[in-house]
Amino acid sequence: MDFSNFSAQSPAHNEFRSDTFTTPTLSMIQSLGKATLGDAVYNEDQATVALEEKVAAMTGKESGLFCVSGTLSNQIAMRVHLLQPPYSVLCDHRAHVYVHEAAGLSTLSQAMPQPIAPKNGIHLTLEDDILPNFIPDDGEIHGAPTKLICLENTLHGMLFPLDEIKKISAFCKANDVKLHLDGARLWNAHVETGISLEEYWTVLVGNKKFILKANHFKKQNGGGIRQSGLLATMATVAIDENLPKLKRTHDQAKELGKLCEEHGIILEHPVQTNFVFIDILANKINPDKLIEISDKYNVKIYSGRVAFHYQVSDESFENAKKVVLEVIQYARENPFEGDSNFKFYTSENKYHVDIANHMTLKEELDELGIKTGFNETGESNIVLFTTRISCNLIEFLQDDFNFELSLRLVGNLKEQLKIRSIKDQRLRFKQLIASLFTRIVLNYCQGTDLLSNVKFTYNEYGKPQLNDQEFQFSSSSSNDIISIVVEYSSKKTPIGIDLSHSIQSAISAKDCVDEFSQIFESSELLYLRNISDEFNEEEYRYRGLNKSSAIEEYKLFWFDSIDVNPLELIAKKDKFIQSLDDQSEFFCLKFCK
Ligand SMILES: Cc1ncc(COP(=O)(O)O)c(C=O)c1O
Repeated sequence: MDFSNFSAQSPAHNEFRSDTFTTPTLSMIQSLGKATLGDAVYNEDQATVALEEKVAAMTGKESGLFCVSGTLSNQIAMRVHLLQPPYSVLCDHRAHVYVHEAAGLSTLSQAMPQPIAPKNGIHLTLEDDILPNFIPDDGEIHGAPTKLICLENTLHGMLFPLDEIKKISAFCKANDVKLHLDGARLWNAHVETGISLEEYWTVLVGNKKFILKANHFKKQNGGGIRQSGLLATMATVAIDENLPKLKRTHDQAKELGKLCEEHGIILEHPVQTNFVFIDILANKINPDKLIEISDKYNVKIYSGRVAFHYQVSDESFENAKKVVLEVIQYARENPFEGDSNFKFYTSENKYHVDIANHMTLKEELDELGIKTGFNETGESNIVLFTTRISCNLIEFLQDDFNFELSLRLVGNLKEQLKIRSIKDQRLRFKQLIASLFTRIVLNYCQGTDLLSNVKFTYNEYGKPQLNDQEFQFSSSSSNDIISIVVEYSSKKTPIGIDLSHSIQSAISAKDCVDEFSQIFESSELLYLRNISDEFNEEEYRYRGLNKSSAIEEYKLFWFDSIDVNPLELIAKKDKFIQSLDDQSEFFCLKFCK
């Protein structure tokens, strides 16, 4: 068997977005040969049972339950603790169960979350945070009594002092309140403090009755993995072999934290284990620049949260330090005042569309018998592409999932982030479609993959242009119409388009011709006034305006309505491409003097 993938450096060697990116090690994979293959839902898999017993023993509890994710463990544990709504769950305002588990607490357990910002900025305390916010179950009927308190250790890499946990635990016992600990990183707390796991306690361990019920909810939530022995075997090796490696990750994070301190970089929290939280806003860091500089050094630091794990290579660690220093230098020279809508979870996923040998626009025009490029008489051809953002498209994009899926078609991560951060929904959708449309048209013109990244350079006025292409382009949009005009010209003089729309608030449909009267000749104005029979006033007059264009020396070819329908793009790539290549779809307007 070829294990080279696993003996080589882990793909996570340069990954700082999260410590969850680590990959199975060679010995984890080799252990699979000895994995047991019983059905764990029937409780018949030895490796799963052994792992559950091992972790229960490590934490000094009666039983354990192997769950495939931390989220599942948290959610079913909270569900077991909560019996009869209405009730609320008190937790830190940054807690994973509150912020990052897709509102599972509200939907699966019908609980009102009660997020609290700890007074000390680090962890909840009984006196300052819990007592003032605790809602007793004392017959007062307006509130939702606190029935569960959720702690997290570590939280953002910060340790929860054991003494405080003990105080909170005693309060819970005395007041019939359940206590849950999200222990996704309890391993780090254990390694850092030397306090045994038994003294803390971990996610899904508890007494037999608790685990029995948790298993019930695990099954209900689809978490019953049949042959889980394969995973349990690897998990056991991971605990044995990788736990001792966590200390180095803490040392690295602290070293980076110290470097930040030395250079006056503001952190959100103290560094106590394996996370450094750089305050992006306070340091005036441009999020795009952070990604750009990270890419330059081949590491993935895509937000202020820098996570360390045991597979980070020495080289990547050195590069991470360079990124932080270069980013802060840039921020000091170019302080970013914008709205940095940053998320922890930034995916670099790229959607690749393989379009086999589609024709280029030039070939297409050749086939249609339309000459491109400047001819002997100095004529040039201009091709106009338009698309519109239909109501159907807006409806489609209003579904978050569809929007995210469509956004992935914009392969460039920075562009994705930029689009996502546009607050106004209409503009956000428009920018997404405009971006896809620009890609499609320009790739079509240059004969490259329709969705591949287009690299622009910018002239002195900031106008984007393409190097080494025999065409010039310009784009414009108005309301729901997006247009791109392309000119084949050996002269390479810039072209511009300004799309105007009769529904524009500044220009009334009725007066649109008058508003433009100054730029047209009298024969053109006459023509424009006469087309009102052809198109009613709600129609887009720009058709008429284009027809009477003052640029008479050009031939204008109008490739009408190239649908940028992401659904179509995703599901029926081939059909979409065909439609691009189908002559009948093209609406050609020719006008000469
Ligand atoms: C504190 C904390 N709890 C729970 C989880 C959930 O783990 P999972 O991604 O396995 O659902 C995470 C994930 O990173 C986490 O950071």
